[in-house]
Amino acid sequence: FAEDGSKLWLRYTPPEAIYDFSTVTMDETSPTLEKALKELNIAWQSFEGKDIQTSKTTDAGSLVIGTSKSKNITSVISSKDFDDLGNDGYIIRNINKGGKQSITIASNTDIGVLYGVFHFLRLIQTNQLSASINIVEKPKYDIRILNHWDNLDRTVERGYAGYSLWKWDELPNTLSPRYEAYARANASIGINATVLNNVNASPQILSKEYLHKVKALADIFRPYGLKVYLAVNFSSPKELGGLPNSDPLNKEVIKWWNDKAKEIYSIIPDFGGFLVKANSEGLPGPQDYGRTHADGANMLADALKPYNGIVMWRAFVYNPSNEDRAKQAYLEFMPLDGQFRDNVIIQIKNGPIDFQPREPFSPLFGAMQKTPEMVEFQITQEYLGFSNHLAYLAPLFKETLDSDTYANGKGSTIAKITDGTLRPHKLTAIAAVANIGEDTNWCGHHFAQSNWYAFGRLAWDHQLTSKQIADEWIKMTFSKDNGFVNPVKDIMLASREAVVDYMMPMGLHHIFAFGHHYGPEPWGDVPGGRPDWMPWYYHNADSVGLGFDRSITGSNAVSQYFSPLKEIYNDASRCPENLLLWFHYIPWSYKMKNGRIMWDELCYKYNSGVQQTRSFQQTWRQMQPYIDEQRFNDVKSKLEIQSQDAVWWKDACLLYFQTFSKRPIPSDIEPPV
Ligand code: GCU
Repeated sequence: FAEDGSKLWLRYTPPEAIYDFSTVTMDETSPTLEKALKELNIAWQSFEGKDIQTSKTTDAGSLVIGTSKSKNITSVISSKDFDDLGNDGYIIRNINKGGKQSITIASNTDIGVLYGVFHFLRLIQTNQLSASINIVEKPKYDIRILNHWDNLDRTVERGYAGYSLWKWDELPNTLSPRYEAYARANASIGINATVLNNVNASPQILSKEYLHKVKALADIFRPYGLKVYLAVNFSSPKELGGLPNSDPLNKEVIKWWNDKAKEIYSIIPDFGGFLVKANSEGLPGPQDYGRTHADGANMLADALKPYNGIVMWRAFVYNPSNEDRAKQAYLEFMPLDGQFRDNVIIQIKNGPIDFQPREPFSPLFGAMQKTPEMVEFQITQEYLGFSNHLAYLAPLFKETLDSDTYANGKGSTIAKITDGTLRPHKLTAIAAVANIGEDTNWCGHHFAQSNWYAFGRLAWDHQLTSKQIADEWIKMTFSKDNGFVNPVKDIMLASREAVVDYMMPMGLHHIFAFGHHYGPEPWGDVPGGRPDWMPWYYHNADSVGLGFDRSITGSNAVSQYFSPLKEIYNDASRCPENLLLWFHYIPWSYKMKNGRIMWDELCYKYNSGVQQTRSFQQTWRQMQPYIDEQRFNDVKSKLEIQSQDAVWWKDACLLYFQTFSKRPIPSDIEPPV
């Protein structure tokens, strides 16, 4: 049991130096503070094999925890220190009182105390707890939310870790212990919100029967500070309520949503709000009635407003049309800037197409000046080898967050725009599509756990580096031995780029097999099918070259970016080479910066991806002495699959593109099999 990955990063293997928290002082009580004590107890049991003691007075313990209402806390931390902490922030401070050292974990709220406890335990486990500790932390985003694409029949759209965790058929009566384990894991990394169901939402989720199932989950999650949200189907008034239509300006429809909101909050008083995918990929929406996204979002926002609920309205919209798909979200949403209620936030996928291994950032970020915007990442690896490939995604997340949009001049990174630094908004949030299922190890691949972890850590603090996050995750999940930590960290940090190289280097995108999105199919074609779902739409290979011309002479998608980016992306000689074929159609003989022609560079990139997966395998084989056999073997066999798949990608893509380029594959790369 201990070695099957089910414990995630909460293994609490004994560290080198143990800070003595055998007695914990706390003079308050609440369900959340009880969870904080419980967590300290789990850790102490694991470190020392004993239960912790609790005390109400500070003389006894060397660890004091509590809120700004606690006497023990206010006697050592001045009230002004709490001014800046907000709801979730905390202080961890070494306090010397009458010659006696103790560590105090304090917050304005009990959930802040729980977050502080997890931080303290992380420091111990990663051997970073210093005697003179003085930490002040608060999250960069208010809402740090997972999106589950879980259906009510327990299948998970783009889920690769088994069926859904939510056993709808058993709820609300039978409560799986994994519900609490899930909430606890999220709290340990600061995730405070979750959308339980698929954005391709069934109207049924809003039925009374399901709301009571949702309530049962919300009740378990609450002490861990995890709020429940639901994805809603825009046609619910018609489909579930039996109304003739779901027109957002229809009084009956408005009343239906108002009544529904009232009902929801009578069952789940702290319900978070709605996530909506509308007029996208065939789903219903306000445009079905000639209304706008703003009309639809505002109607829902008004219904939720009395209860402080919010609407996360997705900008993932596109239609088969003459417009480049990468431009469509911007074209639809920009005219609506300023028309949304203040409890609406626009949820934008990191890239303009769809979670590809590499995309430029969506040009909508920063562009809507008057509307709060949030990023949607995808943790589940729909386009990065499912749960078979090791792809550590923190570098991908950071690439987006650190991108400079130039929207308010230089330094207008997506992080600063969405976290409210540059444009104070009432709402700040960040979302990611979860990779969690009922698999014993939660995520299918042991290393896929690191992406859940990394999302939580970056949602809390986007200034953390990918390296820091990998470092702490490895130490808590596997081993603190440097002989293991360093080489494995190197694998993780190189892994996403390796996937880009063996799947779609240099800005290539969407050349996946139609439907499942796992393997390569650049040749894919469905006669009469939607062109914007066909790979050739994106790669445009012919005898002259390869790539999508999004420059001024092409679709002019570059014009949606701020200067100087639009000029840089427009100019093939200045465009970053890792996005070259995204923005340009490039002749096979085009000279790259390193002197190679484009065709040769493509061959070397694919080959380099394959070679990297081989080196991951080699390194991993040497890791056997450091960890348990079960996880060692699980990862080993997954790395084998990854390496074989990399060869498959390289060969399929190069042999296919070669039918156009008619050029030889350089002799020093691994020949296709
Ligand atoms: C992708 C994915 C779909 C999903 C959609 C979305 O297109 O393949 O399964 O529904 O994104 O984000 O809405």
